[in-house]
Amino acid sequence: MEVIVAKNYEDMSKKACAHIVSRIKEKPDLVLGLATGSTPIGLYQNLIAEYKNNNISFRRVVTFNLDEYVGLDGNDPNSYRYFMDHQLFNHIDIDKNNTFIPDGTAENIEEECKNYEALIKKFGGIDLQILGIGRNGHIGFNEPGSPFNSRTQYIRLAESTRQANSRFFPSLDDVPTHAITMGIGTILEAKEILLLISGKGKQEAVRRLFTEEPNEDFPASAIKTHPKVFVFVDEDALASE
Ligand code: GLP
Repeated sequence: MEVIVAKNYEDMSKKACAHIVSRIKEKPDLVLGLATGSTPIGLYQNLIAEYKNNNISFRRVVTFNLDEYVGLDGNDPNSYRYFMDHQLFNHIDIDKNNTFIPDGTAENIEEECKNYEALIKKFGGIDLQILGIGRNGHIGFNEPGSPFNSRTQYIRLAESTRQANSRFFPSLDDVPTHAITMGIGTILEAKEILLLISGKGKQEAVRRLFTEEPNEDFPASAIKTHPKVFVFVDEDALASE
């Protein structure tokens, strides 16, 4: 696990962007795993700027998102499809047919999960997976207790996660109770992992990540078993007083 310390959120976003740009230049048909939440927004803005400066093209890039809420369709402003379209895809030259996100409105959720796994395989697996981290260490929506060999699945959200994410919804009651998420096993199959961590609210998560052995009570610790991980962390998230 290589740790890259950034001065602040902007610096972290720039550094992570530079890393991804170099990967897309090496492999223009990169299979990129994407994350939602507040953390990667700055990264996406930097990627848009790189595209607008004619520095990179996403024409051949394929993306797979980590997760989606069950029950929200892509027109719902709180769905992760809507988030990705508005924060990134609408502003770059990516072929939207090559942007995959689990369908939270699928009639048969179990089948949707299986198909998602098969689709990732069909594209040769994920080259580079971007991750954020929840305060309780969740990655994607893999909550504490998720087995490290889990695959894309239907899960119930932890109440603490629903509460943390309720800031985007009119009220807590509007936050879905379930989601589809890539499993930890799915995430660990990515050839490379980039974890982005920013802000004082993540200090405890950073402390646990750096001190604990891999254990299922702290899902993010799974990445310590992966051979190629880069953690981009800003000083606010790192400081512990
Ligand atoms: C959500 C997402 C995660 C994300 C986490 C942290 O629950 N499913 O993928 O990492 O929130 O979000 P934030 O970056 O807003 O702190």
